[in-house]
Amino acid sequence: YLNPCCYYPCQNKGVCMRVGRESYECDCTRTGYFGINCTLPEFWTRLHVMIKPSPAFYHFILTHFKWLWNILNNTFVRDMLMRLVLRVRANLIPSPPTYNSAYGYISWEAYSNVSYFTRVLPPVPDDCPTPMGTSGKKQLPDPQLFAERFLRRQQFVGDPRGTNLMFAFFAQHFTHQFLKTSGKMGHGFTKALGHGVDLGHLYGDNLERQHKLRNFTDGKLKYQVVDGEMYPPTVLDAPVHMIYPPGTPKEKQLAVGQEMFGLLPGLMMYATIWLREHNRVCDVLKQDHPTWSDEQLFQTARLILIGESSGRTWALEKAGHWGAGGCHWV
Ligand SMILES: *[C@@H]1O[C@H](CO)[C@@H](O)[C@H](O)[C@H]1NC(C)=O
Ligand SMILES: *[C@@H]1O[C@H](CO)[C@@H](O)[C@H](O)[C@H]1NC(C)=O
Ligand SMILES: *[C@@H]1O[C@H](CO)[C@@H](O)[C@H](O)[C@H]1NC(C)=O
Ligand SMILES: *[C@@H]1O[C@H](CO)[C@@H](O)[C@H](O)[C@H]1NC(C)=O
Repeated sequence: YLNPCCYYPCQNKGVCMRVGRESYECDCTRTGYFGINCTLPEFWTRLHVMIKPSPAFYHFILTHFKWLWNILNNTFVRDMLMRLVLRVRANLIPSPPTYNSAYGYISWEAYSNVSYFTRVLPPVPDDCPTPMGTSGKKQLPDPQLFAERFLRRQQFVGDPRGTNLMFAFFAQHFTHQFLKTSGKMGHGFTKALGHGVDLGHLYGDNLERQHKLRNFTDGKLKYQVVDGEMYPPTVLDAPVHMIYPPGTPKEKQLAVGQEMFGLLPGLMMYATIWLREHNRVCDVLKQDHPTWSDEQLFQTARLILIGESSGRTWALEKAGHWGAGGCHWV
């Protein structure tokens, strides 16, 4: 029998479960829809769909009327809006986590084994005729070929919003703290066990690495000064594993939280900016709290930077750089 779930009968994020040999049931829990295939909207869903403005409308409102936003920013409405945005965003992600690449049904393992990347929807069942269920080719195309056919740009096309390379690197730098696929365990697994904005890409994803990056005075991270400016230390001063193009001498290898940042100058640039910020915040904290230990200064600075980096990301998102279809940071 062909698994009926391979046809993806359940709509609106309903989840298909096999019943008997030839039939299925859709779990429409919290989709806002009901019916055999989760296609019938509940009353509130119907209302919501009717009055919901388009993404373009949101974009327009958020990127115009600066005077209005300035007024709102100074009233209680600001806190209300921020709480609302946070709640709506947080609700997009199921918590506790649900599925992952190995579990297409709710399980203790998928909940408790944080080495898995979690998934909002279950993976395609193993016994389907094609990798996408029943549609598409039997074999997915080679990623290299795919990238060249679909993604490679033949000529320069400027971004209509005026976004530049700084932004692309900001986004990439930011996501490398939680999108850290484990080469050893496989594609379904992450090495970023914080699963969120923990700044593991500045401080390392484990305590041992963090300690090698820290100076242990005044809460600061190790650094070196080149031409009067602060840069990350070399791997000679902070002996952590870094990935660099082969042949790069050790005294030219900078040591930061994320081992991959040696491969792209734009990522190392942002690592440098955040290193400077961490040490700057430590100076400010130390002035106000001369009695604090190195540990308290470090830990407090880290929390402040987590707040700053989230805030910066929110600001970019609000400015419309992350459009619909982009990622949601929670
Ligand atoms: C549900 O989906 C299946 C498969 O697409 C279809 O054959 C069936 O008619 C649908 N049932 C209802 C009630 O919509
Ligand atoms: C909103 O107000 C806060 C102070 O309450 C200020 O720090 C911030 O810069 C303001 N944001 C904007 C976008 O004006
Ligand atoms: C998580 O699952 C993987 C794959 O089954 C396994 O190798 C690993 O040991 C598990 N981790 C824990 C903490 O149980
Ligand atoms: C550690 O801190 C001390 C005191 O501020 C400083 O002199 C030294 O250069 C720092 N070392 C590194 C590797 O950052």
